[in-house]
Amino acid sequence: MLSGRAPARWIGTSFKMTKTRAEAVAFARTLREALGPDGVPGVRPFVLPPATALAEVAAALGPGSPVLAGAQNAHWEDAGPWTGEISVPQAADAGARIVEIGHSERRAHFGETDATVRLKVASALRHGLIPLVCCGEEAGVHARGDSAAHVLAQVAAALDGVEDATRVLIAYEPVWAIGERGREPHPGEIADVVAALRDAHGSRVGGILYGGSVTERNAAALLGVDGVDGLFVGRAAWRIEGFLALLATAASARVTAS
Ligand code: PGA
Repeated sequence: MLSGRAPARWIGTSFKMTKTRAEAVAFARTLREALGPDGVPGVRPFVLPPATALAEVAAALGPGSPVLAGAQNAHWEDAGPWTGEISVPQAADAGARIVEIGHSERRAHFGETDATVRLKVASALRHGLIPLVCCGEEAGVHARGDSAAHVLAQVAAALDGVEDATRVLIAYEPVWAIGERGREPHPGEIADVVAALRDAHGSRVGGILYGGSVTERNAAALLGVDGVDGLFVGRAAWRIEGFLALLATAASARVTAS
């Protein structure tokens, strides 16, 4: 958990490449009305809209909101000739307090590597944002029983050179569990990797989240896996009713030691 804070469960969503600005702002406004200034006890929500809507979503949530707004990606350089990219300072200027790094879709389609993930983590920390570092193995690695080693290597690379990782969040997102073609995991299927992450990094990072085919139905069981500090959700949180239901589940779920 982030140092100095009471244990809390992180519940966040990335909208990925969905929602117009109006749709994203409507989601943020409804969230603000539903949660009020104090938020949900014991829960730390975050929302990662597309970059086009980030500033407006952050403004709609309001200053001091219990909900963190963030970016789905940012470049490792502060500025320069990187056409099409946005930097961490630019994301922060738009209201981001958290930045997602190394999602498997970015690794698969946009050349994200362990090396670029490491650079981006360093930039996020340099500028005071929370890096949300995604890691996870492909189906073949999972089938071979090599999941933990694969994921630990990704996280070791991401944290290479980081002295104080207390702001870093790790999201374990098995590639085989993500998205429309993903397969919902049994809690037992993720327990070993989460335990390995917790043993290796649990005492130095801000939290370990699980992501991939989270639903309102399986959320409580996935939150119940020892060492899971929260959930990072795609499809099931894109309707505000779904996100609010997940926040309620997290609020009522038993807080395990982590
Ligand atoms: P999903 O996406 O919840 O829609 O499976 C998860 C993710 O990509 O983080």
